[in-house]
Amino acid sequence: RTVHAHSGAAELGPYRHYMQKEIFEQPRAISDTLEGVSNIMPELFGDQAYGIFKKIDSILILACGTSYYAGLTAKYWLESIARIPVNVEIASEYRYRESVPNPATLVVTISQSGETADTLAALKHARSLGMQHTLTICNVSTSAMVRECVLSYITHAGVEVGVASTKAFTTQLTALFLLTLTLAQSKGRLSDADEADHIKALRHLPLAISAVLALEPQIIAWAEEFANKENALFLGRGLHYPIALEGALKLKEISYIHAEAYPAGELKHGPLALVTKEMPVVTVAPNDALIEKLKSNMQEVRARGGELYVFADADSRISSSEGVHVIRMPEHYGQLSAILHVIPLQLLAYHTALARGTDVDKPRNLAKSVTVE
Ligand code: AGP
Repeated sequence: RTVHAHSGAAELGPYRHYMQKEIFEQPRAISDTLEGVSNIMPELFGDQAYGIFKKIDSILILACGTSYYAGLTAKYWLESIARIPVNVEIASEYRYRESVPNPATLVVTISQSGETADTLAALKHARSLGMQHTLTICNVSTSAMVRECVLSYITHAGVEVGVASTKAFTTQLTALFLLTLTLAQSKGRLSDADEADHIKALRHLPLAISAVLALEPQIIAWAEEFANKENALFLGRGLHYPIALEGALKLKEISYIHAEAYPAGELKHGPLALVTKEMPVVTVAPNDALIEKLKSNMQEVRARGGELYVFADADSRISSSEGVHVIRMPEHYGQLSAILHVIPLQLLAYHTALARGTDVDKPRNLAKSVTVE
């Protein structure tokens, strides 16, 4: 394995850590990942993609950690836009359980490193069950994962030094959205007009992300509050529930605060018992079809004295009030809103870890690539 030599401070430029630098590299990483993509075609994923995409009638996504959350996000896109049933499985669970294979499945692995032992083993397990149509979304073109799969889409996030995945995640989502559009087209479910609209929104993403990165000073103020907390709850609904999961993982793995994410509709089924003013409740609040339901979930938290920290789309009409802190995001971004809403959660985790003095780029007990099981 090539170990990327880092020239340390010189490479960091104005940033204090690789993780901060990589958060701010996301506009560039996404435009690089979209390089040369002017319209949707199966060949984006390899020259056998056309035939394979015609044949498959379901999708199995295998991944770990942040990459698994990318898979959960993609499930919402794939089922609503491409109308193909999707199963998303944690690789270390799938490889050991008695599952029911379907040979007409597209097996999709998601891996930044392309060397994660559990994901490679899960892929081999799926193949041993007769599922031969394999595709990987990967950031390292020379990795074992790319060699093992028939099809691939290489993200161009560049080297990700921080153990906590940031630009790899958002470029994975970009690639997964392209896969969604391509499969929709293969199934005759993507009109030329919709294709043009989606491509336009993808191309505008780097600019939209830059606007969200400009919220950093407000997020730093929240991080000061979070620094002395021991627990945090992240809430999201629908497409943004996996984003809440990713936000909780970011906070856990670099600040060591015990954070968990819940679908906001699940509050009354248990987690509401956890709510006190000591536990901040971070809420992902896009102005989508679920916003009114999310607002009533926020009421449930407030009624128990919980402190809400809300990332609200500009048009979701949620304003600050007693116990409700709001940072205003840009206008709702449609299906790609999930990519925008993870950015402030990355920054919140980063600045909270900074305030707690943990080793942001190399958090305790963790490795960048888990090549052993
Ligand atoms: C995420 O911040 C972690 N670094 C970890 O969960 C990571 O996503 C996981 O180990 C999967 O790694 P991969 O994408 O290289 O397969």
